[in-house]
Amino acid sequence: MTLLSVNIDHVATLRQARGVSYPSPSEAARLAEGAGASGITVHLRGDRRHIQDADVEELREVVRGKLNLEMAATEEMLELAIRWRPDQVTLVPERPEEVTTEGGLDLVAAGDSIPEAVGRLTDAGISVSLFLDPEAAQIERLADLSHDLANGFEINTDHYTRPGADSESELERIVEAAALGAESGLRVYAGHGLTTDNVRRVAEIPVIEELNIGHAIVSRAVLVGMEAAVREMLAAIG
Ligand code: PXP
Repeated sequence: MTLLSVNIDHVATLRQARGVSYPSPSEAARLAEGAGASGITVHLRGDRRHIQDADVEELREVVRGKLNLEMAATEEMLELAIRWRPDQVTLVPERPEEVTTEGGLDLVAAGDSIPEAVGRLTDAGISVSLFLDPEAAQIERLADLSHDLANGFEINTDHYTRPGADSESELERIVEAAALGAESGLRVYAGHGLTTDNVRRVAEIPVIEELNIGHAIVSRAVLVGMEAAVREMLAAIG
């Protein structure tokens, strides 16, 4: 069974649009987990455009399954994560002007900065996943860095989900990246741009343990409620 971590960033986006105290990300997390999500993901951005520090502190208390904190490997974020100790950190690249995460980390170009950040997080007892494009060079680099450095990686499914994409060849890239990661003993996750319409074929890849889905679920939740939106996504996952 493929697990679903619900990214609730855009519950906070709605709240920040008015600078009020609702809707509450914690309430959204409780409803999502109640409807069958295996965990909750939030991306604490350097510019705090949606999720705030206090949200993460509250979610640490409220989330019953896995709390996955997405963040850039900056000194500020590393210090916060080590203080909060979420169950998992997913390291992502972050560009202040971007609308959403634009691609995976470049482990080949990053030198020692990512391994150092991963080491600090794992020393604090936090599982670490890295957001990577489905490229063999990235996954091989992660496998070379040592098995106990990062616990797994999240395959960026963005290209596969884009309208007009050659979805068969993009899916093949995801399948190959997932197989390579699993052969290297890494846990494999996937996400970005997934919807009830495109999720099934990614969910069918057996070594992908968990999907990380946000925008589509929160958008649907605005119309039908968080529990119904999560149940619809779980049904689409199969
Ligand atoms: N995975 C990562 C690393 C992301 O940055 C995001 C977006 O915050 C997601 C998954 C979820 O993407 P979406 O909101 O398109 O479902």
